[in-house]
Amino acid sequence: MGLSPRLLAHAPPIGGRQTLDEYLSHGGYEGLKKALSMKPDDVTQMVLEAGVRGRGGAGFPAGRKWSFVPKNTGKPVYLACNADESEPGCFKDRQIMERVPHLLIEGCLVACHAIGAETAYIYIRGEYPQAIAAVEAALDEARAKGHVGANVLGRGGRCDVWVHQGAGAYVCGEETGLLSSIEGGRGYPRIKPPFPAVEGLWGCPTIINNVETLANAAVIVRDGVEAFRSAGDDDTTGTRLVGISGHVEKPGDVEIDPATTTIRELIEVHAGGVWKGRELKAVIPGGSSVPVMPAAAIDVPFTYGAVQAAGSLAGAAGVIVLDETTCMVDALVNLMQFYHHESCGQCTPCREGTGWLEKLVTRIWRGEGTLRDIDLLDSVADTVGGAQQGKTICFLADSAVMPTKSFLKHFREDFVKAVEEGGSPVFRARRKRGAAAGAGA
Ligand SMILES: Cc1cc2nc3c(=O)[nH]c(=O)nc-3n(C[C@H](O)[C@H](O)[C@H](O)COP(=O)(O)O)c2cc1C
Ligand code: SF4
Repeated sequence: MGLSPRLLAHAPPIGGRQTLDEYLSHGGYEGLKKALSMKPDDVTQMVLEAGVRGRGGAGFPAGRKWSFVPKNTGKPVYLACNADESEPGCFKDRQIMERVPHLLIEGCLVACHAIGAETAYIYIRGEYPQAIAAVEAALDEARAKGHVGANVLGRGGRCDVWVHQGAGAYVCGEETGLLSSIEGGRGYPRIKPPFPAVEGLWGCPTIINNVETLANAAVIVRDGVEAFRSAGDDDTTGTRLVGISGHVEKPGDVEIDPATTTIRELIEVHAGGVWKGRELKAVIPGGSSVPVMPAAAIDVPFTYGAVQAAGSLAGAAGVIVLDETTCMVDALVNLMQFYHHESCGQCTPCREGTGWLEKLVTRIWRGEGTLRDIDLLDSVADTVGGAQQGKTICFLADSAVMPTKSFLKHFREDFVKAVEEGGSPVFRARRKRGAAAGAGA
């Protein structure tokens, strides 16, 4: 609380885009100037000391990732900015792209200097036309003024930044799926190792970072390590952009100090509280793929470590709020439809398993399940997951498993009720409406 925002400090209101002149008037591209006067390894060291962890979900330290790029391979090095933002509940990166796109471009240029890349791709989901337009317009301005292109800031170095549009697949946000898509293939994730830092785009070293991670890199170099670390704690340095959605009075994004802002404050202060004066039932704090937290667990700061200790993950900071009237079977049906639909089908446990999870929870949802199906759902989830257990190429399978297991762990009674009462409340209401419409016809 009480934090002056950094990433969105001078951002215009939603719907507006900060121009290059406005950005320059607030110290824009000063970080890049500073970075270009430093040795690339020193920039990486600075980002390492700042301790910024990847904001795309996994929380991997950005400086460490950058240090994995091999030297003197004779191959070009690439930067890929992950702006796919397809995880249900997540919509924070669009604030940067739409409102302060030069901050992202500056972050890309700083990262390119540190890793020795002359080309960066910003992979933006196709469903974000405003973000694509804003970043393209900012790139036009940056090229015209020599911030991007053949002679960056007149110092002789080249750096091109291109927008690459996605076409609607969630799996293209997985880092190696994203690379396959940029190369023009299907967005199929690839087995690791080799890791992209060693063998990424067209077999060349490639660093993949989230939009917010790169925006933070610009801030770190501009303001210095100490200033950056003045927000957050040793576990989660810097601010966090958080999207809050679901059953709240004021859904939206907010930039917070993660060390001093609890999940409860996110809901009650920043999002105006649970809507319609209702009680809170549960929160999914990091985007739809992380474990759900019951209402009693939310008095924890929004750091990676604190949320994990409370049984979930801060992930990509998409806080989904569910009120007391929510039946968790309804919520899980919705999620399993999504994950089954988005599985790319390469790995049997994911292709078949997400289908089975969807079928089983749908059976319970429709009142056709038995109590045994609830245990079956739990055990199928065990056999599906995932990359962590070496069964699948990427973490999409785990993204279906984590909600399933945690929904059953904390809210088993909702599943039992759906079995005993002939389906979930939403299903029964729909059936009743259908019957009423049929009777009237
Ligand atoms: C199925 C799936 C979808 C993902 N979608 C995104 C996404 O939309 N944006 C993102 O930044 N990371 C996404 N990730 C995480 C990326 O694989 C990767 O960890 C991240 O882009 C690395 O950037 P960071 O280190 O800056 O967080 C996804 C991962 C999986 C498994
Ligand atoms: S885990 Fe699923 S989404 Fe990921 S590669 Fe395998 S089949 Fe595709």
